[in-house]
Amino acid sequence: MKKFLTMVAATCMVLGAGWGMALAAGDSLPDADGKAVYDYITKTSPYQQWPLWPGKDKFYKGQHPHGALLTTYVTESAEATINSKAGQFPDGSIIVKENYMPNKKLGAVTVMYRVKGYDPEAGDWFWAKYKASGEIEAQGKVVGCIGCHTAAIQNDWVFTSPVK
Ligand code: HEC
Repeated sequence: MKKFLTMVAATCMVLGAGWGMALAAGDSLPDADGKAVYDYITKTSPYQQWPLWPGKDKFYKGQHPHGALLTTYVTESAEATINSKAGQFPDGSIIVKENYMPNKKLGAVTVMYRVKGYDPEAGDWFWAKYKASGEIEAQGKVVGCIGCHTAAIQNDWVFTSPVK
């Protein structure tokens, strides 16, 4: 009986550790996939609770083509990169930009997500565009996004402010 109880206790500990790991894994970064990324930024780690792009308030005036008003959120690692002008966003950095119409109605959400080894020719960025409803409009190695953001290749593919 004593042996049995010891076994039960040991099993519980193993299961407990397993649970802990499963919970930790729930927070891990998403695959380079439009749906997985959307779930991550809206459910796992809601982006509206992330820092804003340093130096940019909500509803700043945007340039063509993204929207009249923009609000851009970044992961903490990306925030640190911008603040310290570290030059390059680390793997796992995510930038989420909301594009608003002049009347502050949300038009679309665009995302850049750095995934190690995903697309070495284009900065290892995964690109995605969602409608306000969350419907995926574009995702992956999106030629249109890459073609234009190439102009900012010296700034790790981003335009909003210098990162080096
Ligand atoms: C014609 C050029 C052009 C195209 C096409 C384009 N972008 Fe951009 N993007 C910009 C510019 C310019 C900015 C800076 C906007 C501003 O501050 O007004 C920007 C900003 C961004 C940002 C904020 C980070 C940064 O670069 O400063 C994200 C995220 C982004 N774009 C994602 C995308 C995605 C995803 C696509 C494709 C669906 C895309 N962009 C297509 C020009 C473009």
